[in-house]
Amino acid sequence: MKNTAATFKKAKATGEKLSMLTAYDYTTARLVDGAGINAILVGDSLGMVMLGYDDTISVTMEDMIHHSAAVARGAKNALVVTDMPFMSYQTSVYDAVVNAGRLMKDGRAGAVKLEGGSEFIEHISAIVKASIPVMGHIGLTPQSVNAFGGFKVQGKTDAAAQKLIDDAKALEDAGAFSIVVECVPAELGKKITEAVGIPVIGIGAGRDCDGQVLVYQDMLAMYDKVKPKFVKVYSNIGEQMTAAFKAYDEEVKKGLFPADQNTF
Ligand code: KIV
Repeated sequence: MKNTAATFKKAKATGEKLSMLTAYDYTTARLVDGAGINAILVGDSLGMVMLGYDDTISVTMEDMIHHSAAVARGAKNALVVTDMPFMSYQTSVYDAVVNAGRLMKDGRAGAVKLEGGSEFIEHISAIVKASIPVMGHIGLTPQSVNAFGGFKVQGKTDAAAQKLIDDAKALEDAGAFSIVVECVPAELGKKITEAVGIPVIGIGAGRDCDGQVLVYQDMLAMYDKVKPKFVKVYSNIGEQMTAAFKAYDEEVKKGLFPADQNTF
């Protein structure tokens, strides 16, 4: 069944847990979609895992549109949520609506995600008014890495925790259909989840969230530059790829590949 922003909201009411994984290309999107994952996030993490930057700051609208359109072609049932990159919405409400529209029209996203809390309420309600579903993202918001001074757990003081709960409520009031909460203590993840009537998708926010999201290269051990504690490696695909590449290299160099059955 096709997942939409509406089915996400319904899942909160029924208590059904939601699964989300990143994908950035057609082939991976088909595999993720075929596994029954509810939503595919075309995250701006692609700046790191696909393009080799140290953070997400340099990712452009063109990068996001290019990868989103490829994912959308491979996703039959999963909801495609595409990230609004750094400075595509922070600059004005007008820019936010225009760029969210481009991710829908050219990137064929089913929803957009943007980082930030109450400071972006006007932007979010304007996008929602344009009939574009918005997923919020609070906690460790990687586009603010320079303001945070690194990738650090957020919401550790009472005041910071309360600000995140207030932000989540403000996002819901602005019309967001769901919220990603990243890298906060599990107890706070639970409080935020209980405070709102829309699904909270956690990444490093404990098991009481309404759903979970991971970067697929992390859960398949394909990217080792950052290894957050919240990642579980489900399969050592990175190692298996290296082994296969080595076997191919060896066979080519020894003249064993192509064999008769690979030859016309
Ligand atoms: O860009 C991304 O992949 C994300 C996830 C880490 C939630 O925003």
